[in-house]
Amino acid sequence: MKRISHLTGSRRTMASALVLAATLTPAITFAAPSAATADSPANVHPEQWPRIAWPKVVTDADEAKIAQLLKQMDPACKVGQVIQGDIASLTPEDVAKYNLGSVLNGGNSGPGGNDLAPAKEWLRYADLFYTASMRGRPGCPGIPMIWGTDAVHGHSNIIGATLFPHNVGLGATRDPDLIERIGAATAAEIRVTGQEWTFAPTVTVPQDYRWGRAYEGYSSDPALVASYVGRMVRGLQGPPTTDRVLAGPHVIASTKHFLADGGTTDGHDQGDAQIDETTLRLVHGAPYLPAIENGVATVMTSFSSWNGVKIAGNKGLVTDILKDRLGFGGLVVTDWNAHGQIAGCTNASCPQALLAGVDMYMAPDSWKPLYGSLLKQVQDGTVPMARLDDAVTRILRVKARLGLFEMGAPSTRPLAGQWNLLGSPEHRAVAREAVRKSLVLLKNTGVLPLKPGARLLVAGDGADDVARQSGGWTITWQGTGLTRDQFPGATTLWEGLKSTAEASGGTAELAPDGSFKQKPDAAVVVFGETPYAEFQGDIRSLQLRSDLTGPLATMRALKAKGIPVVAVMLTGRPLFVNPELNAADAFVVAWLPGSEGAGVADVLYARDGADFTGRLPTAWPRTARHGDDPLYAYGYGLSMKQGATPWTALPEDPGVAAEAVPGVYLQRGQAQTGWSLVLADPYAAPHVVGPVPAATPGGRVAITAIDKDVQEGARRIVVVKGPEPATITLEAASPRDLSRETNGDVLLLLNLMLDAKPGAPVTISARCGSGPCGAPVALPELATLPLGEWKTLAVPLKCLLPAGSTSNAVSSPLVLATRGPLSFGLASVTLGTKGDILAGCKVR
Ligand code: BGC
Ligand code: BGC
Repeated sequence: MKRISHLTGSRRTMASALVLAATLTPAITFAAPSAATADSPANVHPEQWPRIAWPKVVTDADEAKIAQLLKQMDPACKVGQVIQGDIASLTPEDVAKYNLGSVLNGGNSGPGGNDLAPAKEWLRYADLFYTASMRGRPGCPGIPMIWGTDAVHGHSNIIGATLFPHNVGLGATRDPDLIERIGAATAAEIRVTGQEWTFAPTVTVPQDYRWGRAYEGYSSDPALVASYVGRMVRGLQGPPTTDRVLAGPHVIASTKHFLADGGTTDGHDQGDAQIDETTLRLVHGAPYLPAIENGVATVMTSFSSWNGVKIAGNKGLVTDILKDRLGFGGLVVTDWNAHGQIAGCTNASCPQALLAGVDMYMAPDSWKPLYGSLLKQVQDGTVPMARLDDAVTRILRVKARLGLFEMGAPSTRPLAGQWNLLGSPEHRAVAREAVRKSLVLLKNTGVLPLKPGARLLVAGDGADDVARQSGGWTITWQGTGLTRDQFPGATTLWEGLKSTAEASGGTAELAPDGSFKQKPDAAVVVFGETPYAEFQGDIRSLQLRSDLTGPLATMRALKAKGIPVVAVMLTGRPLFVNPELNAADAFVVAWLPGSEGAGVADVLYARDGADFTGRLPTAWPRTARHGDDPLYAYGYGLSMKQGATPWTALPEDPGVAAEAVPGVYLQRGQAQTGWSLVLADPYAAPHVVGPVPAATPGGRVAITAIDKDVQEGARRIVVVKGPEPATITLEAASPRDLSRETNGDVLLLLNLMLDAKPGAPVTISARCGSGPCGAPVALPELATLPLGEWKTLAVPLKCLLPAGSTSNAVSSPLVLATRGPLSFGLASVTLGTKGDILAGCKVR
């Protein structure tokens, strides 16, 4: 088990330990039995946690009204209140019929099934859902539903909204006042489109930046995170009083993910935090104290586990600590189908979560079966009515506090439909200020600030790309598949540099590959990570993906020509970049700045006296190995007024092997390291594809090279008709754990081109260990593909790895089988979230 003294920022941790120790009061209750046995490491000691005062946020008259309302609700009505479905998987009619208490839009859902729906549609749907929820029936009075959305860096699902830097960048600003203003601006923009609830702020305290969600956290230092949380909650919700939240420009917040989402072993998303209770309290618990003091309305439980027990099923944590000891008086909501991961539960049935103290189930696509099972469990006494009543009361309290019972439809509330507030100049100015303050300068041998009037070259693949600079949770879940026109009003780093260079009397030229006609006075090279969210961003070592290291060569080439280079890194986390640090004359960490890319130019040109004030929110690594001594400590950051600082070349060995690109199994027609393509005819020995052309003995399945993008950039596979199915299999050298990807609705993407309509049915399946993971899935969609065109066929992993399969030991994610004839081109097999044609079972 890890102990506190090993953790990043341990000095700060000790300081907060002292603060917390001072607030400890003697135990007055005993821990109720937890999810496990008495001596389980997942048992808690509430008496070691501080007692916090929950502010009075509803009046006594509200309480009386809520009690009255509860009396009018029959069991089905109450069960509906505690369930939240995703708008992609329900209609307003469903909300009315099942009296659902809440809806959400997941990262990839939007009104009418359109993730990219314009802002007006969001407000129209808010009205539709509201009106449906108000219909009521005998035994169930109309109760306004609430709509939760992931406005995690601005109202980030909405086209045209202001996109603030992701939290890791805000951590670098060390400016709690700015954080509150960001919260207020975000709340105002949410109100324009009619939602009431944001699933933010993420108050995680990441201890291992290999975790793909680390950028959603402000810092690895609990004291810094804690210093922001109260301010962000106030910015979003307003002060914790009995004033109605919706009467002002506010929404309700959710601190997530309770608890220790940032403490899992090796930074595995949805993993297990194997830490003692003291670390749990002092590191990961610290941000919840100011959240509760400031009356945060909701807390979202984590997908992850603490010492082997899923948080959402741990009564000790959810009830005994969060509610009873810390005094949290709002509602506890689970994460996306996370209840299904609790021991003994499925997505369709999980009384355990409610019994542990959860008040609302986030049951995106599982809400209907869950509603049915929970109603039975209430009727047969598995779930005591008192617990259900408590959950419903907490939900109604949040609604009363919002003012929902007096307010009309979302479109009639303050700020609704004021489209000019979405991405308003005032909000963008706050975001631009945040960008300026978030930049961290790691090296400057004198090239910065850029000289007014100079000829500037802007290079690197990240220079002119708003989606790239905005990261995950931007319009789409992973922040992928977006185009420039989906960011009206935004500026890229290039656009900001160009206008600033020109305003200074100079010129600017954009050339991603660093080429130029006239020698520039200086070059800015923008490089770094591409967008990801959740587990798609999990990595095994702290290095940049091998396909993203190209700009290093550009930096070296420019330097060799005597051109000073400023490297600007877009990234969700500190990574091993010693070669880039050596190659550049100045090095700026820009994190994930969002829509106001011009803030970068403000500082590079020292516009209006701007300088670097950002400080590292976590240590910067010296090697790609997590846990090695850092290169730059937490808090490091240079300024330009210090002038040139000396530089000693850094060793360029990352200390680990270069990593294959995760989720890429076959590319340019070739199986990647750790994978092999196997062709098999049941009547002959299987053929493991090496050099092509090749075929199975007897020639039933043959493979040749064809051109795509580059010479021999794909393969053609031809299956001759036979009595038994022939197979084309992608085999893993060692079994892969795809359980998190499967749970997250990730797709298997096949980039292929049909030469002719398949002569016989084709199926796809996966292998787990030495047997099939599930039944083969028919692929009738293949026959609908246009001939001779490259298309991406998307098969949900959930179809291939059904519930109950050993999705943590996948030996092959792809077995195509057909009697033939079949002739097609195959370019790539990857994991992803968007294809041209969705095939297989329709999961959502
Ligand atoms: C994420 C949450 C998010 C929720 C709704 C989950 O997968 O973990 O952070 O709020 O989905 O989109
Ligand atoms: C949803 C996200 C959710 C994720 C769960 C995605 O399909 O769009 O909102 O967080 O699944 O892993």
